[in-house]
Amino acid sequence: MEKITDWSQLWEELVEIRAAGRASGAAEASARDPWNDRARQFKQGVRRRWERPDSSRDFILSQLDAGSTVLDIGAGTGSWAALLARRAHHVTAVEPSEAMIAVMRESLEEENIRNVSIVEGSWPDVYVEPHDFSLCSHAMYGYPDLEAFVLRMIACTRRTCFLLLRAPSLDGIRAEAARHIWGQPLDSPNFTIAYNILIEMGVYANVLMENTGLWKPRVSASIEEAHGDLKRFLGLTDNPEHDGYLLTLLRRRLHWRCGRYLWPPEVRSALVYWNVRGR
Ligand SMILES: C[S@@+](CC[C@H](N)C(=O)[O-])C[C@H]1O[C@@H](n2cnc3c(N)ncnc32)[C@H](O)[C@@H]1O
Repeated sequence: MEKITDWSQLWEELVEIRAAGRASGAAEASARDPWNDRARQFKQGVRRRWERPDSSRDFILSQLDAGSTVLDIGAGTGSWAALLARRAHHVTAVEPSEAMIAVMRESLEEENIRNVSIVEGSWPDVYVEPHDFSLCSHAMYGYPDLEAFVLRMIACTRRTCFLLLRAPSLDGIRAEAARHIWGQPLDSPNFTIAYNILIEMGVYANVLMENTGLWKPRVSASIEEAHGDLKRFLGLTDNPEHDGYLLTLLRRRLHWRCGRYLWPPEVRSALVYWNVRGR
């Protein structure tokens, strides 16, 4: 019989690969703050995605009331913080990136939202008081010890913890490449790995798959650009060993449409949540 996967170790390894991919070729300012020249673009991306209604947002909002306090971990440009602040009493937005904080402040000011406090720092090191609810939306992928991340979240939550995570398809391009190179298709820190870590921690969480389906497909201007992105993603920037395989894979699976290459859609978002008291 095969040995059961060490989920925490897999998470840690994939976080390290992701960090190495990001660091390779990054300019000094982006190495200090990866959102340095992308914060505004990120906000526009969220705004576009949020034009459509979505079950995670509806569900989380339905849990709050006018007296609730909410902790938003890795708040980014503050889309969640602003949304939740309109329903709750107070939101604390924890965020390490100066570039993201600058855009978040601007957005909160523009929308005249006064019940959000911004705490500059990284989870789980930053100090905050317990809140009724805590949310971490796609902000856990850079932290190697997911158990420590979640334990601190639980310690700071009185009622319900919410995690939003990428849930990639097992037949996407990245999964196919990961299967070929690493022998398993989990290409990045994601929902499947996190959920198994939660079970090992004794947290039997509920899951709501977003009803908006798969995220819009990635696009690349050329096969070479797609190849560079895929190599960076897999932490292979300086390693030519798999170039032949990756180029053949991309030529087989990318579709040429309207002057650019479309990747097959491969990621949806999963909302994982549990009550702290009834765990
Ligand atoms: C992909 S963005 C998501 C932003 C926001 N939660 C959303 O869903 O729109 C990830 C954010 O998490 C922040 N982040 C990364 N690691 C973090 C950590 N250890 N603690 C808190 N925030 C973190 C990043 O600076 C970035 O703003």
